[in-house]
Amino acid sequence: MSEQIDMARVEELAGKVIGDVAGALSLYMAYIGDQTGVFEALDGAGRLTIAELAKKTGLNEKYLHEWLGSVSAAGYVTMHEDETFSLSPEQALIFAREGQPACMQGFIQAVVSQYEQHEKAVSTFASGEGRPWGDHTQCLFCGVDRFFRPGYEANLTADWIPSLSGVEGKLKAGAKVADIGCGHGSSTVLMAQSYPDSEFHGFDYHAPSIEIAKTAAHEAGVPNVHFHVANAKEFGGADFDLACIFDALHDMGDPVGAARHIRETLKDSGTLMLVEPIAGDSFAENMNPLGQIFYAFSTTVCTPNSLSQEVALGLGAQAGQKRLTEVLKEAGFRNVRRTSETATNMVLEVTG
Ligand SMILES: C[S@@+](CC[C@H](N)C(=O)[O-])C[C@H]1O[C@@H](n2cnc3c(N)ncnc32)[C@H](O)[C@@H]1O
Repeated sequence: MSEQIDMARVEELAGKVIGDVAGALSLYMAYIGDQTGVFEALDGAGRLTIAELAKKTGLNEKYLHEWLGSVSAAGYVTMHEDETFSLSPEQALIFAREGQPACMQGFIQAVVSQYEQHEKAVSTFASGEGRPWGDHTQCLFCGVDRFFRPGYEANLTADWIPSLSGVEGKLKAGAKVADIGCGHGSSTVLMAQSYPDSEFHGFDYHAPSIEIAKTAAHEAGVPNVHFHVANAKEFGGADFDLACIFDALHDMGDPVGAARHIRETLKDSGTLMLVEPIAGDSFAENMNPLGQIFYAFSTTVCTPNSLSQEVALGLGAQAGQKRLTEVLKEAGFRNVRRTSETATNMVLEVTG
């Protein structure tokens, strides 16, 4: 049977791919501008000529000419009729204001980190073998932290913890908290600062991340936080009032084993706060830009990490509340309820 090709559909798809290619390169340009301080130099500087921008940044005019052409065409920088360049307040928020919830540079850095190691990504995919978190580069670890931290600053103590039944009062009075898979420890330090009468323990199996977390806590002068290199299935301590996992359960090889260990280390009245990427319960429900993004990171980071560990469940970054609930119930927990959500995350209260 001869193949029927609908040329209108070919053109439509080709147009979409061209948009994606432009987007991929725009992210790369945004990363270069971030790392070399161009967005920062443009922020609040008004309209600058290329020569003025070169003088301000100490960068090569020829390179700036090409870079400005690309980012202006992308709409990341504003080009004026007289060929001067500026950042609008909105562009500044997205590209120049580190720490603002709207700043996308951490997200962009995490994407660039995956291109950086494209050969490893291809060989992992081809072999079907696992690839541990520590096999990625610092670019990913920093990008993930930069991306997640502003969301924690905006939501964690203002919304997520108050959404849990009876937990905020305990933390204010003095409680014991475990943050499992804490990475660079931004969530742990933030909670320790907000609840000075409570004691916080951050655990992660990636030793270099724990070193960074310890330094961050020391620099912030937070005395009530302690960081430990430990696997989620084996971390020490007991009688925790609250355990938290921020965007890490699906990265684990044995999320059931980890949740079971967490349950054993919690007080009977304790709560697990599980923060996971927001997702529906089926492929069909995740056919949107967020699904496109999370399934991609899951292909190169989360699932390989899980497959590199014992049990190798490979939950994936779009597991959805139904599948997560099955995992938590298999670990012995009885109650799972969604108490809050953002555009990217869901917050589950897990008890019993
Ligand atoms: C996506 S990062 C999230 C880090 C941090 N919670 C945050 O929100 O920025 C996932 C983290 O889970 C950690 N991790 C993965 N498997 C683990 C395990 N079995 N035990 C402890 N930590 C684990 C990784 O080392 C990594 O730091």
